[in-house]
Amino acid sequence: MALVPVITIDGPSGSGKGTISQRLAAELGYHLLDSGALYRILGCVVRQQGLDLNEHEKLARVATDLDIQFGERGPGSVTVNGEDFSELIRQEVAGEMASLVGAIPAVRKALFERQLAFRQAPGLVADGRDMGTVVFPDAVLKIFLTASVEERAKRRYNQLIAKGIGAILPDLLRELKERDARDTQRAVSPLKPAGDAHILDTTSMSIDEVVARVLSLATESKD
Ligand code: DC
Repeated sequence: MALVPVITIDGPSGSGKGTISQRLAAELGYHLLDSGALYRILGCVVRQQGLDLNEHEKLARVATDLDIQFGERGPGSVTVNGEDFSELIRQEVAGEMASLVGAIPAVRKALFERQLAFRQAPGLVADGRDMGTVVFPDAVLKIFLTASVEERAKRRYNQLIAKGIGAILPDLLRELKERDARDTQRAVSPLKPAGDAHILDTTSMSIDEVVARVLSLATESKD
C-alpha cells in the first residue's frame, strides 16, 4: 500500500511556516500538523502545574498522557484535557517554554508517535523544526523556510500589534535570536534543513508568492 504523502515545512520562528502550511493544506485538501503546538501545549502545562524542567521522564509521561484535541471547538481551536488552550499556546511565553521542553530528548520521543498519527489520507502538511529530518524523512516534498532575523522579528511585531497586544521590537529581536540559538544548537533534532530540502528565503517574498512557489514544487514532486 502506498504511504500517505507528506509535505514538510520546517524553519525558524517567524519564517511564515504556520501561515504557509495552513494555506497549503487548504489548497491541497490535506490534513495539517502544527507540531509546534504540541510543544507549546506541554510548555503551558509545565508552567501551569509548576513542573520541574529537570524531571525529564516525568515530563515525557505528562506529554504522553495529555488528551489533546485540535479543531474540536471550531477551526484552530485547541483543547487540552477538556480545557480551551487556543489563546494560551499562542502567547510569547508559550513559545519560550516550548523551546525549552523541545530540547529534552525524552519529551521529543514521547511526542514522536503522536505526530506520526497525523499521517492520514489524502495527505499531510507537517510544520515544525524536524519534520523533514526526523519525523517524516520519507516526505515527498521538504521545504525549509528562512528569512532574516530582523524581518522575522518585524513580522512578529506586526502580528502582535494587529491583535492589540503590546510589543517591543528590540525585545522580540533578542528573544528570537535566543530561541534560534537554542533550537539550532540542541543535541537532539536540531533545527536544520534536510539534505533533500528546498530552501526558500522569504525575506522579500509575500505570503502569496511563497504559497505559489511551494504549490508549484508540490506539483513537480508528483511528476
Ligand atoms: O513553531 P513554533 O514557533 O510554534 O515552535 C515553538 C517552539 O517549539 C520552537 O521554538 C521549538 C519547539 N519545536 C520543536 O522543538 N520541534 C518542532 N517540531 C516544533 C517546535
